[in-house]
Amino acid sequence: MARQFTENRLVIASHNPGKVREISDLLIPWSISVVSAAELDLPEPEETGLSFRANAKLKSDAAAFEARLPALADDSGLAVNALNGAPGIYSARWAGAEKNFSVAMARVNREMGDNPDRGAQFVCALALTWPDGHSEVFEGSVGGTLVWPPRGTRGFGYDPMFLGDGDAGTYGEIAPEEKHARSHRAIAFRKLIAACFREPR
Ligand code: IMP
Repeated sequence: MARQFTENRLVIASHNPGKVREISDLLIPWSISVVSAAELDLPEPEETGLSFRANAKLKSDAAAFEARLPALADDSGLAVNALNGAPGIYSARWAGAEKNFSVAMARVNREMGDNPDRGAQFVCALALTWPDGHSEVFEGSVGGTLVWPPRGTRGFGYDPMFLGDGDAGTYGEIAPEEKHARSHRAIAFRKLIAACFREPR
């Protein structure tokens, strides 16, 4: 059985404001005091893992160790069928040092060329590590189609080019609550909650 989270303080081990906002929103019902790695000025570990799970754990381990608090990390990205799963764990790196996702989306579209398979998955691994080193990791993914040009100004990263299966708009167009209800992050989060958290207080 997974370890239960009984503390009332949690570090979100991310320096990505989009992820911190989404994870904080998802945690609202639990009234946990959340603080981000950026607010604590924690160093960003190098993502040397070869999977979403490995990178998520590497980040939650580093933050829990540094902050001496339980830490939750997200490693996620876009896996494109026509690119054999790229950019995958390198999704952030495709945006370059400037973190320019217009550039990253244009590269994805360019490299897909005229491949008729526009399918892609958003994948998210969530890792929760306690200061004693114990950790739990959960993964979620959601399928969709890549559109060009990108549509909408909501969300972050590759959201404006991702049209989730069955959705009326891209993740850049639909309301944040809709994305939170069914995204890769929401799926991983539900697994984490089911395994480690009690019903909201
Ligand atoms: P990392 O997990 O810090 O390596 O970064 C993952 C990258 O994947 C982010 O910077 C985004 O570009 C992309 N990504 C992950 N989740 C999402 C999402 O929900 N929407 C859009 N892009 C995402």
